[in-house]
Amino acid sequence: MKKLRAGILGATGVVGQQFVRILSNHPFFETVVVTGSARSSGKPYKDATDWIVTNNPPENVTDLDVLDTNTKVILRNDIDLVFSSLPSDVAYSIEDELASAGVPVFSNAGAHRMKESVPILIPEINPSHLNLVSSQQYGEGFIVTNSNCSTSGLVFGLKPLMDFGINDVIVTTYQAVSGAGRNGVGSMDILGNVIPYISNEETKIAQETQIILGCKENGKIVPAPFDVNASCARVPVLNGHLESVVVQLEREFSVDQIIEAFNSFSGEPQALDLPTAPSNPIIVCQEPDRPQPTRDLSLQVGDLGMAVKIGRVRKQKDRLNFFLLVHNAIRGAAGASVLNAEFARVKGVIE
Ligand SMILES: NC(=O)c1ccc[n+]([C@@H]2O[C@H](COP(=O)([O-])OP(=O)(O)OC[C@H]3O[C@@H](n4cnc5c(N)ncnc54)[C@H](OP(=O)(O)O)[C@@H]3O)[C@@H](O)[C@H]2O)c1
Repeated sequence: MKKLRAGILGATGVVGQQFVRILSNHPFFETVVVTGSARSSGKPYKDATDWIVTNNPPENVTDLDVLDTNTKVILRNDIDLVFSSLPSDVAYSIEDELASAGVPVFSNAGAHRMKESVPILIPEINPSHLNLVSSQQYGEGFIVTNSNCSTSGLVFGLKPLMDFGINDVIVTTYQAVSGAGRNGVGSMDILGNVIPYISNEETKIAQETQIILGCKENGKIVPAPFDVNASCARVPVLNGHLESVVVQLEREFSVDQIIEAFNSFSGEPQALDLPTAPSNPIIVCQEPDRPQPTRDLSLQVGDLGMAVKIGRVRKQKDRLNFFLLVHNAIRGAAGASVLNAEFARVKGVIE
């Protein structure tokens, strides 16, 4: 398969670095363009980037010059698609311009997520939503988003429960500092502290979860009907969002049935054996004190940060309680976006 030429917008940031890492030896895509802000443009990637994801940036990008995040500059290069890890306010117009110029855009930013024709795609959960791109007005180009980082973990905890009927969901998040970006949270604010506020996060979790778990009817998404009540806190953890989830289910259930539903959950990326798909999208931890960010998100394990870890599954009357853990910058961001592009490629949406 010929490799498609990819640009990474915002390649120097927390998510951009994960894109660079994941695409460094990718069978479908090669990185040919990296962009940043005026702070970085014109510098070689290795000098512009405060690299934090592994020991050193991969060799294929170290000497690439960081380009200005400007549509004309980007289009001067021969690119087949872009991955976007720009701040939302910057992403809005540039993603729009690139899609209008015929470029497929796979975005992490929230800028276009709430548009009716823009899928919030998680191919294990809502593969049919990819087809929404055919109703976009961009001609050859289009925009596909992935969800906000907390939502991307939560929907894995909820999708296998839909056969039991979900009445309502209460979720409390303990979110890592990397979720706020490289310079998002000051060390003096977070060390030894917990901040019970993350701007707009609770609304995003509720809306995005209902859309992702919604049905497609007459070419439009009808959001899932249950309430999602979210409370979000920032905690002094580097990577990994832990979430306490309480779900009221319509049907009788046992803890064993729920664990079986989690363990047996699998989707199209697994059936298609996509390069970034983990073999098991959900891993149920047996230990009573897991999952934990420092113990359960190592990139050395086979799932490469793409599996969602679930533990402490309990029943209290008609409510199911559990914790889940998602790597915010991988399954919650860059890994999710690369998986979306892989899925689009095998489905013939990008060629
Ligand atoms: N962090 C996460 O876990 C996570 C998860 C899901 C979604 N997201 C979303 O992904 C996006 C990126 O987040 P991040 O955490 O990677 O942020 P970040 O670490 O702050 O990185 C931001 C990137 O955007 C570039 N940038 C900033 N201002 C710019 C401007 N005015 N013009 C052009 N480029 C500009 C930066 O370039 P310079 O370094 O050159 O300044 C950097 O490459 C955001 O939309 C965020 O909401 C993040």
